[in-house]
Amino acid sequence: MAPRGVILAGGLGKRLEPLTRITNKHLLPVYCKPMIYYPIQTLVDAGIRDILIVTGGNNAGDFLRLLGNGAEFGLKHINYTYQRGEGGIAEALDLAKHFAQGEKIVVILGDNLVGKSIKKYVDEFTRQPCGAKILLKKVRDPQRFGVAEVKGGRVINIAEKPKRPKSDLAVTGIYMYDHKVFEIIKPLKPSRRGELEITDVNNEYIKRGEMTFDILDGWWTDCGTFDSLLRAGKLVEGALCKGGKKTCEY
Ligand code: G1P
Repeated sequence: MAPRGVILAGGLGKRLEPLTRITNKHLLPVYCKPMIYYPIQTLVDAGIRDILIVTGGNNAGDFLRLLGNGAEFGLKHINYTYQRGEGGIAEALDLAKHFAQGEKIVVILGDNLVGKSIKKYVDEFTRQPCGAKILLKKVRDPQRFGVAEVKGGRVINIAEKPKRPKSDLAVTGIYMYDHKVFEIIKPLKPSRRGELEITDVNNEYIKRGEMTFDILDGWWTDCGTFDSLLRAGKLVEGALCKGGKKTCEY
């Protein structure tokens, strides 16, 4: 059975002020579509049909107006829930507990865009007996991300936005978890930036020896800063222009 999908689209998007003063970051345009369209399509292309969107902050109701029940993506239904404040990615994920119903989940950050299908990784995770899986990508600016230290074919530690990164492998915002993730979130304490960090969740799976990883194929970007938002637009445009055909059928 395909895992269930969770898209995290809350937060206040402070790094994109004033663009995010009157709307949610994930509703901003990336080339020809609102940002949230891309992670939804990524999950649908991976064969995932049960999707929960965790939103929050400004204009949460606009997600429903924009997406409805997901007919544009061939879905019959989309689930929604609301995150109050800015408690971090792990706090937002905790809101998916009822939706998960003990099944495996694939989580994607609402501002993470990929150039290629993630279906093969999701299928691998479906076959993995238990634990978690993350997808890594070589980047030029690892200090901006969670950074993975890999040794002997395993991830041995993740550092969140380290000043001196131990590698150039960023942890992308695509995470796959078994049902234990909610028990792992429960005892977490807020980090220095006052958030429950997804990196703490991942490090706990690593400690338990239950974390696998893959290096993501194709391009990947987030859209959390002006530069990465612009880059995302250009990457999407580039993908659409392949073969000289420019259409909005992404
Ligand atoms: C978050 C995670 C970070 C990850 C990144 C991917 O960072 O904390 O580990 O590498 O997403 O987009 P944020 O951009 O929310 O600060």
